[in-house]
Amino acid sequence: MYYFIEPMREEDIPAVQEIERQSQMAPWSALTYRREIRNRQSCRYVVARADTQLPDGTPPATDYPLLLRLLQRIGLVAPASTSTAPIVGYGGIWLNETSGHITTIAVAPAHRRRGVGELILNALIDGAYELNAQYLSLEVRVSNLTAQRLYLKYGFRPVGQRANYYVDNHEDALVMWTDPITTTSYKERLRELRRQLHERLRQQVDQVVVGSPSNGPTVG
Ligand SMILES: CC(C)(COP(=O)(O)OP(=O)(O)OC[C@H]1O[C@@H](n2cnc3c(N)ncnc32)[C@H](O)[C@@H]1OP(=O)(O)O)[C@@H](O)C(=O)NCCC(=O)NCCS
Repeated sequence: MYYFIEPMREEDIPAVQEIERQSQMAPWSALTYRREIRNRQSCRYVVARADTQLPDGTPPATDYPLLLRLLQRIGLVAPASTSTAPIVGYGGIWLNETSGHITTIAVAPAHRRRGVGELILNALIDGAYELNAQYLSLEVRVSNLTAQRLYLKYGFRPVGQRANYYVDNHEDALVMWTDPITTTSYKERLRELRRQLHERLRQQVDQVVVGSPSNGPTVG
């Protein structure tokens, strides 16, 4: 299986909401997703897609109007998608002053434990750099040890708790922050984690593909 990241598009919202439902995440309205996707000044939303074969090397269409391409380059419009492969995960980040705040992340149950969550988190970290964030932050249910392990791996540390944060069961939220992500030490750690993730994802791609280094899986 080949996993890759693309910007979330408005037409992706129903598939995203289905994964959200399967993951028992707090439901967001389509309107909320649309508003976040369109807010390219301070948000980045991505989907992970799964395909059984690697792209054939055909370059993405480049015949967009010049103005649209310019808007995409300066981040006011999300780039067009090049794929219809099924969506298996999604995530989002929002720039809150100096912090890139992870607003949501989930992987479809059938695709968990294969590095997709890490792939999405890496894409969000790239988004944080694009938005000039200095830190990463998030809230996570105190009982969600699975997600907390993912975040600990990427340098998030618990810094506090918010009581009764979740409306459904009044559960407390653990607040997690990273150290500055602009330091050499964080970037080196990230590089090593990405190298390991790339290797893991490569091993999941068909044998015939592993022999072709130029077609390795995308690492956010
Ligand atoms: C959290 C979630 C996104 C992880 O996605 P995933 O694709 O399964 O995770 P990955 O395969 O990329 O795993 C990355 C790391 O996460 C942690 N992790 C993931 N699943 C885990 C599990 N079942 N038990 C323990 N640690 C786990 C590990 O640290 C893992 O690194 P490792 O493989 O080196 O041990 C996924 O479990 C999910 O969608 N959960 C429901 C939604 C949710 O809780 N979102 C977070 C809201 S704050």
